Amino acid sequence: MTIKTILTEPNKILRQISKPVENVGKEEQVLMKDMLETMYHAKGIGLAAIQVGVPKRIIVLDISKEENKKSPMFFVNPVIKNKNLKLSTYEEGCLSVPNQFAEIDRPSECIVEYLDFNGEKKILKTKGLLATCIQHEMDHLEGILFIDYLSKLKKSMIIKKLSKQKDKVDRIVV
Ligand code: NI
Repeated sequence: MTIKTILTEPNKILRQISKPVENVGKEEQVLMKDMLETMYHAKGIGLAAIQVGVPKRIIVLDISKEENKKSPMFFVNPVIKNKNLKLSTYEEGCLSVPNQFAEIDRPSECIVEYLDFNGEKKILKTKGLLATCIQHEMDHLEGILFIDYLSKLKKSMIIKKLSKQKDKVDRIVV
């Protein structure tokens, strides 16, 4: 398994709309394993393929917080079938928006249809943290980041901060 580089905002690739996967084959399974490894390494609980630069509709999640009880989930071509009107609020962060957090409201329950790691069609009723995570990750597939839900001012402040951090990281003298 390979740990991949996670792209961070601002980056145009993160704004791409990801394409549906036609067939869950070896290549996709290797990608999913790499994504999972990358996510664990970065101490995240969810990752979309576009965050490692691959515009495919693939998500990995693991919301089990215990270190020794991993329970990875894989979602290929996920579609939300039904959303609850009731909202729940979590303070969200994102591996592509490092060190920034904000309270975001999302439907508290949703039903997701998807293909699993083996390409089998599944349907899952989710609520709470899992529902929020899936919706956050599915936004990535549309090129949407959680900061897009904030006010223009808040969002531009965050992007400015991230750009500055990036400048620092990229600047080398050799
Ligand atoms: Ni994210």
